[in-house]
Amino acid sequence: MSTFDPAIPSTTESGAPRESDANSLSVGPDGPLMLHDVALVQKLARFDRERVPERSPHAKGSGAFGEFEVTGDVSAYTKASFLQPGSKVRTLTRFSTVAGELGSPDTWRDVRGFSTRFYTDEGNFDMVGNNTPVFFVRDPMKFPDFIHSQKRMPDTGLRSQNMQWDFWSLSPETAHQVAYLMGDRGLPRTWRNMNGYSSHTYMWVNEAGERSWVKYHFLTDQGVENMTNEEAAQMAGEDADFHRRDLFDAIKGGNFPSWTLKVQIMPYEDAKSYRFNPFDLTKTWSHKDYPLTEVGRLTLNENPTNHFAQIEQAAFSPSNMVPGTGVSPDKMLLARVFSYPDAQRHRVGTNYNQLPVNAPINPVNSYDKEGAMQYEHSGDAPVYSPNSYGRSYQDEQGIEENGWEADGTLTRAAYTLHAEDDDFGQAHSLVRGVYSEAERDRLVNTVVGALRDGVEEPVLSHVFEYWKNIDSQVGQKIEDSYRNA
Ligand code: HEM
Repeated sequence: MSTFDPAIPSTTESGAPRESDANSLSVGPDGPLMLHDVALVQKLARFDRERVPERSPHAKGSGAFGEFEVTGDVSAYTKASFLQPGSKVRTLTRFSTVAGELGSPDTWRDVRGFSTRFYTDEGNFDMVGNNTPVFFVRDPMKFPDFIHSQKRMPDTGLRSQNMQWDFWSLSPETAHQVAYLMGDRGLPRTWRNMNGYSSHTYMWVNEAGERSWVKYHFLTDQGVENMTNEEAAQMAGEDADFHRRDLFDAIKGGNFPSWTLKVQIMPYEDAKSYRFNPFDLTKTWSHKDYPLTEVGRLTLNENPTNHFAQIEQAAFSPSNMVPGTGVSPDKMLLARVFSYPDAQRHRVGTNYNQLPVNAPINPVNSYDKEGAMQYEHSGDAPVYSPNSYGRSYQDEQGIEENGWEADGTLTRAAYTLHAEDDDFGQAHSLVRGVYSEAERDRLVNTVVGALRDGVEEPVLSHVFEYWKNIDSQVGQKIEDSYRNA
């Protein structure tokens, strides 16, 4: 519980009265300062440490608390308590850009993060997704390289279209996500006007122990709206925090944004013979094969009272799962389960789960202990298991409820191919089958604009080839329009 009381005269951090918040201690009014001015030294030392490292990707963002109310009935597929009919839980959602640093403009073209924590009575459940249903790469070994290519050049410290397009054009599995990002949805008007997706395939387990594969879709009740390149560029100059401000102001004004959560559910056995690998993060599942089922509504209705404590220090992670849920053989997802808590131990501190925003609402009994800034502890209870002194411990054995079968020789390779596994097919369907003629023209303009921003040979030729593989006409248009300008 916080002992902070805004009504009492200000104190030092150890609770002693402060003499002044305005004047430092000097030898006479004009003399040198004193090292034993505890209040000044403490104030400067704390100021020097105000910044924690920003998130490595997804540094710029903001969010709000809210509630999730179940409106459908998915109890046949999952036993998770927060997904049962009638359930309502408190939530925290954070939206972000991926590549930009903390102060970067909200309206630069980028994928947007869409993370939601559900504070459930069985522990925290975090869905750390994006506003796109797919991702750039399918093997975690490539993720740091991908992020490096989005960040800054080693020599100039500048961002570089050349570096970004070099990585993409040499990694054909990025085609679907790049086609998505270069389309209208690469510039959401506000966070309220975009959808959120798990992108990955996850697992659900019901009371009987039956497993299903699921993909989560948070569909905006405000409708999808995007900015044009011109609007976004203008807004980046006028108000770099536009998306952050928009969300805060909307909630402050009582205009609570909401999303309907729907899921695609695939029977466990279907995964083996589906026409493409259902765990490949660069692919979507056909809605004809696996239609959307309604689960509930997420409403954001409470602004943070302290952005740093509640948003910056929030530590979302795909490893936060509850009974009735689980991960899948998606290699990216399996690696993320390690990477987030590891990053958070470094970014926020070893005991980050003890901060109020990260602590679950139910009690914990963990044998992990000590480390910097430990606050919660197990008192004088035994610090080891098994023990003979009454501290509870678990020893379940046997088949993992939310696991799957795996066998084979240790290998470094892409997934085993399913009949329709390829890199360009779904990207082509998006560009040719979903985008209108006008959207395709805007995409061509966007890509050509990016290429003119410093992309050079041999990357340029790779990019023309890449787009021709996605769609021959669009690829040709990009090349012609670049060369004829
Ligand atoms: C192997 C692949 C990936 C790795 C290693 C990775 C790693 C990370 C790390 C280290 C962070 C910072 C965490 C923190 O400091 O709190 C982060 C943030 C984030 N990542 Fe990933 N990531 C991967 C793929 C993805 C994918 C596929 C998605 C979406 C489907 C995603 C969505 C996010 C989001 C939304 C955040 C910000 C979370 C927040 O709001 O605090 N990441 N990622």
